[in-house]
Amino acid sequence: MTHLTLEPQTGYEHFLSDLDQPTFAARFNRAPFRIGHHLANHRLFSLGRLIELSQFLPEKSVEYNSGELPVSQDPNITPRNGLSIAETIARIEHCSSWMVLKNVEQDPEYRDVLYDCLDEMRPLVDQVAPGMRVRQAFVFISSAGSVTPFHIDPENNFLLQIRGDKRVQLFDAEDRFVMTEEQLEKFFTGAHRNMPYQPEFENRGAWYDLNPGDGLHFPVAAPHWVKNGSDVSISFSITFQTDSSQRRQSLHRWNNGMRRFGLIPRNVGQHPWTDELKFAAVRCGRLAKKLIGCQQD
Ligand SMILES: [Fe+2]
Repeated sequence: MTHLTLEPQTGYEHFLSDLDQPTFAARFNRAPFRIGHHLANHRLFSLGRLIELSQFLPEKSVEYNSGELPVSQDPNITPRNGLSIAETIARIEHCSSWMVLKNVEQDPEYRDVLYDCLDEMRPLVDQVAPGMRVRQAFVFISSAGSVTPFHIDPENNFLLQIRGDKRVQLFDAEDRFVMTEEQLEKFFTGAHRNMPYQPEFENRGAWYDLNPGDGLHFPVAAPHWVKNGSDVSISFSITFQTDSSQRRQSLHRWNNGMRRFGLIPRNVGQHPWTDELKFAAVRCGRLAKKLIGCQQD
């Protein structure tokens, strides 16, 4: 078996390492795998620079709460921490809190790092999932021992651990005992990311320990929860969509619509020709909306 690893090019700062072509070919968006990175001491991830970033971002791009949460958390009653955004970051060592700065690519410096990282892996992603787009990044800042409750995310994700350590329990996105097809459809139609966690799930997910310099690939909508170690944790999440991930989202939304009409749709991926018909219908609907939009202009 040939193992191709991307070598650094002269004059260009590479942020990622251990990008292995056969691993991407076999596992991308199917199963988790590890990569490495060189961002652990990057100045963009100091607490001072992150406070600046949090003040630059619009309020809707900052979400934070107490870090003392159970694995199964109802999003409607998540406890706050009683602090401002800047206070939370400044006191993160002692305030038992969890924070995410969303879409940090709104700041040009973070956008450059995101784009450089994704450009490095793009040749390997394109071979299995062409059409990389909607490139977005998130920074997670959390106190020692914080818990990120059980949830799913809509993006192809590589989580890069910058500071501190954490344990991630990651489940198979296709395990319908852990997450039903209906839950998935509702999520892609706007439901909150948090999912109820049952004790019976415990032995169905794999554990990954992440330390500074480690990166982990999360397939789209692979359920997971996270527990910080004994230090402040900072993680950088680099994400994107592809042709296939956006098509899959459309199909889940379509199936959700069918259920609302009392129909029972075939699960996405079960019958390729049915999926093809549904996606053709989605594209026709989009075209019709565009045409109607043009007439209204
Ligand atoms: Fe997540």
